Amino acid sequence: MVFKKALSALIVSLPVILAAPAEPALNPRCNALVPVAKDLLDNLFEGECGDAAHGALRLIFHDAIGISPTAGGGGADGSIIIFNATELTFPANDGIDDVLDTLGPFFLKHSNVLSPGDFVQFAGALSLAACPGAPRVKFVMGRPQPVAASPPDLVPEPFDSVDSILQRFSEVGFSPDEVIALLSSHSVAGADTVDPTIPGTPFDSTHNVFDTNIFIDVLLKGTLFPGTADNQGEVMSSINGTLRLQSDSELARDSRTACTWQAFATNQQLMAARFGPALFKLSLLGQNANELTDCSALIPQPPAFRGRPMFPPGQFLKDIEQSCAGTPFPNLPTQPGPPLDVPAIPQADGDDDS
Ligand SMILES: *[C@@H]1O[C@H](CO)[C@@H](O)[C@H](O)[C@H]1NC(C)=O
Ligand SMILES: *[C@@H]1O[C@H](CO)[C@@H](O)[C@H](O)[C@H]1NC(C)=O
Repeated sequence: MVFKKALSALIVSLPVILAAPAEPALNPRCNALVPVAKDLLDNLFEGECGDAAHGALRLIFHDAIGISPTAGGGGADGSIIIFNATELTFPANDGIDDVLDTLGPFFLKHSNVLSPGDFVQFAGALSLAACPGAPRVKFVMGRPQPVAASPPDLVPEPFDSVDSILQRFSEVGFSPDEVIALLSSHSVAGADTVDPTIPGTPFDSTHNVFDTNIFIDVLLKGTLFPGTADNQGEVMSSINGTLRLQSDSELARDSRTACTWQAFATNQQLMAARFGPALFKLSLLGQNANELTDCSALIPQPPAFRGRPMFPPGQFLKDIEQSCAGTPFPNLPTQPGPPLDVPAIPQADGDDDS
């Protein structure tokens, strides 16, 4: 009987074992990064999908987009670290000084095994490890040292038009759908300097979860400014304590991007599945992918997201500004409780905004 019981337990647990994804083998050339990953996860991000993690993710973008077929630039080359004296003067890189204050010491500590470009991409890929719902993104290493600062005016600003943002991305091979996929990053992000009176203001109600709230929240009718009015690049948001970027608001409502935006709003899996490859593509800008070594096995699987899409308290389908022609926004349940008053994101160590 005991044997029989054990046997049936085995049979019951077998499918679970078989369903676990096989861990990819680690290329031995990646071995030197094992302790670096541990250091960043334990001592930089500290198991939190918080300010340090958000900064690392933002840095991927601000470094990698610095390339253009006409103006030049090295893309995902780490120039934002090495040529900080130039790149941090670009208005679009406002606030990146705090990110580098926090990440810089970790780069210096590990610069013997990681080039600046690899460090930016590695930190960004690892930053998602504590963000429930985030995809596990790929990471490759072997980017050469940056040779020059990025040319100016290549990082899109939140007050740029949809035309100009889509044009900037299309120059470097990104479709409008991929632009929206990349903007999933605003699910785990906030702004320090758009409204400088309220640093650390998140873009959605759940900055520490990689959920679809950003895509729901931005489609709700704007009714308030979380701080002061009249900031360039900001429009009214629908939830107190969250800041809505003008660019997000316009991309959510533009006929070229509205249906993808809406599709992500209620489809966690689709959003995560599109974000991972788009972020990885960004990490290859300006690089020769054939010369890079796949070290993706070093990136942990982020925790699963267990919630489901809902309207924030006090808001309903009638508050959605329908923007995808032809497909009505689906009805969702409304979270119970009084209207939210979302607190600021606690600032990371080394960041002097707090
Ligand atoms: C650039 O980085 C170096 C090394 O971390 C730092 O000493 C310097 O202050 C930074 N410069 C600017 C303009 O942020
Ligand atoms: C938003 O939150 C702030 C800080 O808690 C509060 O002072 C303000 O009255 C709130 N505004 C609205 C419109 O609820």
